[in-house]
Amino acid sequence: MDSVLASIESGQQAALDGLFDFLRIPSVSADSAFKDDMQRCAQFVRDAMQSAGLTPEIISTDGHPIVYGERMQDPSLPTILVYGHYDVQPPDPLDLWTTPPFEPTVRDGKIFARGATDDKGQLYTHIKAIEAWVQETGSLPVNVKVLIEGEEEVGSDNLDRFLEANKERLKADVAVISDTSQYGDGIPAITYGLRGIVAAELRLTGPSRDLHSGVFGGSIANPANAIAKLCGLLVGDDGRIQIPGFYDGVEELSDKEKAEFAGLPFSENDFLQEVGAGAVFGEAGYSTLERRWSRPTCDINGIVSGYTGEGPKTIVPSTAMAKITCRLVPSQNPDVILDALESFLKQHCPPGLQFEFERYHGCEAFAFDPNSPWITAASEAVAAAFGQPPVFIREGGSIPVVSSFQQILGIDTLLLGWGRNTDNLHSPDEHFHVDDFMNGVRASVHLWQKLSEVSVDR
Ligand code: BES
Ligand code: MN
Ligand code: MN
Repeated sequence: MDSVLASIESGQQAALDGLFDFLRIPSVSADSAFKDDMQRCAQFVRDAMQSAGLTPEIISTDGHPIVYGERMQDPSLPTILVYGHYDVQPPDPLDLWTTPPFEPTVRDGKIFARGATDDKGQLYTHIKAIEAWVQETGSLPVNVKVLIEGEEEVGSDNLDRFLEANKERLKADVAVISDTSQYGDGIPAITYGLRGIVAAELRLTGPSRDLHSGVFGGSIANPANAIAKLCGLLVGDDGRIQIPGFYDGVEELSDKEKAEFAGLPFSENDFLQEVGAGAVFGEAGYSTLERRWSRPTCDINGIVSGYTGEGPKTIVPSTAMAKITCRLVPSQNPDVILDALESFLKQHCPPGLQFEFERYHGCEAFAFDPNSPWITAASEAVAAAFGQPPVFIREGGSIPVVSSFQQILGIDTLLLGWGRNTDNLHSPDEHFHVDDFMNGVRASVHLWQKLSEVSVDR
């Protein structure tokens, strides 16, 4: 393994050059204007996998293509399914970027570009580590199956069908994903739980056109008033979600887990500084980490109606729209939650408004037993590369494929995040520390060795 690690050191510039080419492709899955770039990006991933000694192919879907390749070394070795996503969030607002989002640049030891940390930079660490093993030793200590999709940021809607149709081909002992974060500066982490999500859009339509609010106001329901009221009903002053049945089956944290969360270094001041907010707010009776990692939420993501230009305008607007997401915890079912949300909103909607509720994506929460031998092995690999053993954490974000791996393929996922939550993921000036990238590649080199030593009965 020493020669493999040595080749990582000598190959640093080439690895960064490759990553920069990857980052130059504007693979925005949400916006159809980038459809051709998505195709080009899939080809980039295929070529990178080819150079790494895998046998990749591009698989088209009803949405953006999937890239899949494997290297089956020896059937007696463990088989690891590696997942990543080559799609990125839209780069807007563009004027807040210091340098353009698809022209990667290094400043202060950080690579700035959309997708640098989420998830191109992180997934590329595994491709580079596999490549180094294969080039230096002609083989790998485990079998790997690598699945890179292009629709994670829009809910992975077409991926489940691929998983269902390829259960046998994707058979593996455990999955590995690097698409989360370290706990803090110099504190690497293994994430053993994620929240799930449901997303929906609420549209209210009143009069057939905007009306004079003096002539007509007060005689029919105003969609803007109505959407404000409905959105306002969702969360109580105590931070509790008011949707009937929302908390059904939600389990309280065990005392052990509470103590573990409380044992992590955490400063409320630093946290407020980091997010730029004046005070914390959330469900009464829970700490900030508990609220973020283990309690469900309901957030308005956007809300529009009526006149929002300069100066006053006296109208009853014709329409109103709000985008809503709920983060879910184990035992909450996405369909049940969407049903409850829809009927709660419908029940409180004033008469005379057309009520439309469109459902977007959803996925369940995920929890992995932190005592699993896979976690122990991964923990040793992370410690060897980052010079510090990882802490075990949960995260509030969602990665839809993780619950699909559990439900469709019956496997757990090792969430090994090399990024940091301060990397501005989904924000302007997204970046990835060069050191985190390199430590990620090193950790991945160790990982294949450590995972090969886990005994599995097959
Ligand atoms: N990589 C993130 C999820 C993440 C980030 C988890 C940091 C933990 C720490 C992923 O790409 C993401 O943004 N997921 C979306 C999922 C949604 C679009 C279905 C999310 O969580 O909003
Ligand atoms: Mn991601
Ligand atoms: Mn993301």
